[in-house]
Amino acid sequence: MKRKNTRNREHETELAGKPVSASRSEMTEIVLPAMTNPLGKLLGGQVMHLVDMAAALAAHRHSNSYVVTASVDYIDFRNPVNLGEIVNLKSQVNRVFHTSMEVGVEVYSENAMTGERKHTTTAYVTFVAVDEHTRLPKLVPPLIVKTAGERRRYREAAERRKTRLALRYGTDSGRKK
Ligand SMILES: CC(C)(COP(=O)(O)OP(=O)(O)OC[C@H]1O[C@@H](n2cnc3c(N)ncnc32)[C@H](O)[C@@H]1OP(=O)(O)O)[C@@H](O)C(=O)NCCC(=O)NCCS
Repeated sequence: MKRKNTRNREHETELAGKPVSASRSEMTEIVLPAMTNPLGKLLGGQVMHLVDMAAALAAHRHSNSYVVTASVDYIDFRNPVNLGEIVNLKSQVNRVFHTSMEVGVEVYSENAMTGERKHTTTAYVTFVAVDEHTRLPKLVPPLIVKTAGERRRYREAAERRKTRLALRYGTDSGRKK
């Protein structure tokens, strides 16, 4: 399948790069009864909503643009979050492609009574930056990776992108990687 939009990619190199730290975001919520199932566990759909919001913060910060969620290609629930616990979400841009960027989100639960913290969820969300007037995808500043962890996430994001684009467009779409 061919790209629907024709954008001038020659301007890509003119955008100044931004470090991962510029996108790093945190969100904190407390789990209330309306967010839980009958067992008093945070609903998966609520987790997904929080993940989308936390990821959007990072994408919005990095791109300084409006962003739309293009895909959520991986999310797992390792431990439940209980009623009354605090949920901390940490997000950062892992890799920028052209108009899209992958954001990684980690979710932790915290029991304020005991101080116990658990890693409950990991997710990868792809956002596309859109022009506020035309609503068409627009180029995103390149990402500057500095630490070993940032470089690892950058490498791994390329592999995940192959899979998600194959799912969307098929393996023989001939799209730019
Ligand atoms: C996501 C969307 C903007 C892509 O638009 P499109 O016309 O298909 O645009 P393109 O084919 O030019 O793709 C634009 C970018 O999206 C990426 N993309 C498209 N589908 C994707 C997917 N499923 N997963 C990851 N990236 C995807 C492309 O790889 C491209 O990235 P690149 O420029 O970095 O290489 C469009 O499908 C859309 O608006 N979807 C609805 C979004 C929405 O409503 N989200 C929920 C509310 S925020």
